[in-house]
Amino acid sequence: MIPMSVADLAAAVDGRLVGADPDALVTGPIEFDSRKVRPGGLFVAFPGEKVDGHDYAAGAVADGGAVAVLGSRQVDGVPMVLVDDPRAALGRLARAVLDRLPALTVIGLTGSSGKTTTKDLIAQLTVRLGATVAPPGSFNNELGHPYTALQADADTRFLVLEKGARGLGHVRYLCEVAPPRIAVVLNVGVSHIGEFGSVEAIAEAKGELVEGLPADGLAVLNADDPRVRAMTARTAARTVLVGEAADAEIRAVDVTLDDRGRASYTLVTPDGRAPVRLGISGRHQVGNSLAAAAVARELGMPLAELAEALGALGLPSTRRMDVFDRTDGVTVIDDSYNANPASTAAALRALAGMGARRRTIAVLGYMAELGEYERDGHAEVGRLAAELGVDRLLVVGENATPIHDGAVSVADWGGESVLVSDQQAAIAELRRELRSGDVVLVKGSRYRTWEVADALRAEAARSEGGSR
Ligand SMILES: Nc1ncnc2c1ncn2[C@@H]1O[C@H](COP(=O)(O)OP(=O)(O)O)[C@@H](O)[C@H]1O
Ligand SMILES: [Mg+2]
Repeated sequence: MIPMSVADLAAAVDGRLVGADPDALVTGPIEFDSRKVRPGGLFVAFPGEKVDGHDYAAGAVADGGAVAVLGSRQVDGVPMVLVDDPRAALGRLARAVLDRLPALTVIGLTGSSGKTTTKDLIAQLTVRLGATVAPPGSFNNELGHPYTALQADADTRFLVLEKGARGLGHVRYLCEVAPPRIAVVLNVGVSHIGEFGSVEAIAEAKGELVEGLPADGLAVLNADDPRVRAMTARTAARTVLVGEAADAEIRAVDVTLDDRGRASYTLVTPDGRAPVRLGISGRHQVGNSLAAAAVARELGMPLAELAEALGALGLPSTRRMDVFDRTDGVTVIDDSYNANPASTAAALRALAGMGARRRTIAVLGYMAELGEYERDGHAEVGRLAAELGVDRLLVVGENATPIHDGAVSVADWGGESVLVSDQQAAIAELRRELRSGDVVLVKGSRYRTWEVADALRAEAARSEGGSR
């Protein structure tokens, strides 16, 4: 972060100094976990139901060396910047810092699937052009967002942030905290539809990202998703369509996949064409990489370098299309970080592609947060697995049963679906069943499902690095 005096910082967040030296310099980091506080840092105390950050305020100063504490109530003997709402104050502080960094370009992205993946792709390109700050993993909410933004300083050229939404106004708020000049909208699907109510509301919420762009900004929009394409009308900025549609300005043609599901394509841009060979698995990475390419092009990366850089991209955030081979000849696709119908469809297509001449097994768990769409969303995924010709389906947990129902409803499917009660049962079943040559996909909503992927990883060590 950029150094700020306590007085300066208090002014930025509309706070009141209590017992703090106004001239003392905060040099960062800014932390809300008191164990991470370092000398020169600021501790932000959130009032919580279970844990109250203010209980750790004294320790953050005495042991951690915090210059002051940003909080909502006074703590005896602790130098404080007092505010009504520390969360909002954190956002205001991030904004104040960004406003003092004119050489910094903020790149924001949103979508229903692929934000973290594409954030990582973009950051791998921008780091070639200048110092880049991007968070590890998601960090896409009202805490993670300002937390990441506050790591930018005078040397930072690019700040890459994913903007998540669980309701209308969320993306707009995150854009107030860190206003992007370049915005990327990947897709509009049904993730979190339980909170939103309808796909239209999700489109409305995602589009907030482009509404706030300045006239000299750029909106990178997925030409292949009609709801994203329509966002052209919602921005004052220039727009660039990316995708496989014929009118996309940044486009992929002649897409082919290798036996690991890695795409090769010809990149078509207004500057010419170049061959691209991705090292990351999944057909859906074509669109993600095109979005990243549009950002890098806007920032000045020449076409030849761009094509080469796209080929060098990896997937640093874990459990997203992590493909690895086991010593026993089984290939595992660990895509267990999270699941919704669209990302599960993408993963199933990758499985089917990689398993064209191998036995394919999909271990599919419950997809959370689908609300009223829950039953249909699961059934749709089951049907797709069968239609793609997946050989074995292992449906994990009773609440995922509609996946099984969907699969067995496909009359001419030659495969088989098995319902198992939980992750341990799935692991036991796989242990019995797996044989050399199999390709196994593991997919579901988070923690519980990834136990299966972890077991597959532990039981036979990797014989070869995956796509990460
Ligand atoms: N463009 C895409 N379309 C569909 N699924 C995708 C896409 N990009 C990534 N995914 C898959 O979606 C899941 C979530 O990916 P992630 O990058 O963490 O997205 P988010 O941050 O939006 O939740 C992973 O399984 C990933 O492989
Ligand atoms: Mg994410």
